[in-house]
Amino acid sequence: MAAVAGGQIDSVMQEKRLFPPPKEFAAKARIKSLEEYQELWDQAAADPPKFWADLARDELHWFQPFERPLVWKEPFAEWFAGGKTNVSYNCLDRNLAAGLGDRTAILWEGEPGDSRKLTYAELHREVCKFANVLKSLGITSGDRVSIYMPMVPELAIAMLACARIGAIHSIIFAGFSAEAIAERNRDAEAKLQIAADTGWRRGKALPLKETVDEALAKSPTVQKCIVLRRGAVAGLSEADGAGSGPGSQTPATVVSMQAGRDFWWHELMEKASAECPAASMDSEAPLFILYTSGSTGKPKGIKHTTAGYNLYAKKTFQWVFDHRDDDIFWCTADIGWVTGHSYVVYGPLSAGATVLMYEGAPNHPDESRFWQLIEKYKVTIFYTAPTAIRAFIKWGDQHVKKHDLSSLRLLGTVGEGINPEAWMWYHRVIGGERCPIVDTWWQTETGGIMMSPLPGAIPTKPGSCTKPLPGIIPEIVTPSGQPVGKNQGGWLVMTHPWPGMLRGIWGDDDRYKEVYWSKVPGKYLAGDNARCDDDGYYWIMGRIDDVLNVSGHRLSTIEIESALVSHPSVAEAAAVGRPDELKGEAVAVFVTLRSGEPNDALREQLKKHVRHEIGALAQPDDIRFTGALPKTRSGKIMRRLLRDIAAGKETVGDTTTLEDYSVLAKIRGDEE
Ligand code: WTA
Repeated sequence: MAAVAGGQIDSVMQEKRLFPPPKEFAAKARIKSLEEYQELWDQAAADPPKFWADLARDELHWFQPFERPLVWKEPFAEWFAGGKTNVSYNCLDRNLAAGLGDRTAILWEGEPGDSRKLTYAELHREVCKFANVLKSLGITSGDRVSIYMPMVPELAIAMLACARIGAIHSIIFAGFSAEAIAERNRDAEAKLQIAADTGWRRGKALPLKETVDEALAKSPTVQKCIVLRRGAVAGLSEADGAGSGPGSQTPATVVSMQAGRDFWWHELMEKASAECPAASMDSEAPLFILYTSGSTGKPKGIKHTTAGYNLYAKKTFQWVFDHRDDDIFWCTADIGWVTGHSYVVYGPLSAGATVLMYEGAPNHPDESRFWQLIEKYKVTIFYTAPTAIRAFIKWGDQHVKKHDLSSLRLLGTVGEGINPEAWMWYHRVIGGERCPIVDTWWQTETGGIMMSPLPGAIPTKPGSCTKPLPGIIPEIVTPSGQPVGKNQGGWLVMTHPWPGMLRGIWGDDDRYKEVYWSKVPGKYLAGDNARCDDDGYYWIMGRIDDVLNVSGHRLSTIEIESALVSHPSVAEAAAVGRPDELKGEAVAVFVTLRSGEPNDALREQLKKHVRHEIGALAQPDDIRFTGALPKTRSGKIMRRLLRDIAAGKETVGDTTTLEDYSVLAKIRGDEE
């Protein structure tokens, strides 16, 4: 391994395990072999706009056919220009027309154990009614609607109702503070707020409406607020008699309703008509804004539009999850994140799938809740995040073993790199060694999955997201835009527009150009480092800003972390650089333990272990044991904050997206 110029990154990871798709799985798959995948990929790469246009004609309903597949005025894309369609129509009416009205669209379980089921016909009816409610409050095409709700079917209903009339939703994860809601509401100039009175989390009712009241005091553009009564588990389940379980929970908080501004969801719905034709929307009409926080500065309102996003969410869902009619698909992400937008709602529903939605925490009432749900609903495809997998490992196999998981046929992961040993555990303990794992790399900005194994076609390697999907053309370059060689780490870029790509940052074209298109001219800069191996497999190496520079060698965070996680005592690890006079940066790691005592002997053992696994250069200089790592609300490790702590800085940067503020104090407390 030699020091390299030009910002490339040295890979020190050696992962040789290969898992071909099980024969039986491949035989029934949509794409059955590596050759078939390659053929499709080549065909798409030869003429991406034509490839996508052919799919768009078949996969979406067009009120008016489009004229041009792609108009590209870098960095602004228009896909399927001149066409008119509607995302809610594609998710609902199109399925009804295909005779799927009686198929279950949403299976839902609340944290307290209440449950509901909605067929496509029922969902269609509720969406039409709620679309009429929106209209009755003066919402029209192009208006922004802010949504702050727990994981209940009404959240999906609200989204689809917005899409039906051309209103643009901005969903804010129901864990964010009043300040965060207000900032987003002001940026989007939202006209309406949709909220719930409460949401359940680990047995407690969160006072969501209280937070919203505080936010609305600072959201001058918001005129009205619709409030769902979740505390009482009201609404659909009572009206349709479809509910079961402890549906009579009384609201834990007394909700104050401001006359003239606040309206109860169920009261408005009582009067609403169930007739509401879907509006004919331009292909490029904005569908939603979703705020994502960069490491610095104010959150970026990522803008997605109608036809391209819809097609991309649907096709990637079908390819990556190899969807079949009898699947029960469970994506555990909250709808407040892009994963929930694309793979709880828009992707699966446009494909006519049955999804499971769960409201609460994975460890309530105990650590076996997810496994109990898989058994109860006979889930066939399970899609979750590495942070959850690491928690499951820490909690122990005994919680899994109590349940029958034989319905599962495919597993997926998203959100961070998965450490190979966590991958192996997922494969063995959850997948019973029979389920392929799709490690899906993508971003809020990309709209849908960009790189992932196709489970019947592409052999997997633990820790690699394998290959780009058809129509996606990645490249790895130096900061000056030169392609790097095989096995060299560098900046991951996309060389061609794709239908699911963001269309901009809400209200800030300059920032859009600057962040994604200025550093490597003509290419989309993802902000991640990656390398491509001899087999053409991609390995994500972490965020560009997180690279460590040790004695002139640029090292990837995930590789050091994966080496630590492969030690039996380690549950989670985060590696950061700390300023060092001699080496430029020293390797500082924060470790949470699965077993064993946090002492010097273990510290030495872990250093040796890393040295043995990936080499002397990556051996940690500092190892700090801690009870928990600081994470974002979507579960990503916030290495930036740890970098400040490792450097001994008193104050750490922006912490507004931190999930649990006490963690930082604890880490400081854990220091000797
Ligand atoms: C990281 C989530 C490695 C990556 C859909 C990306 C991953 C950021 C993976 C986007 C993966 C996501 N392997 N890293 N399979 N998936 N990431 O916007 O750094 O919440 O740029 O979208 O998460 O996060 P976002």
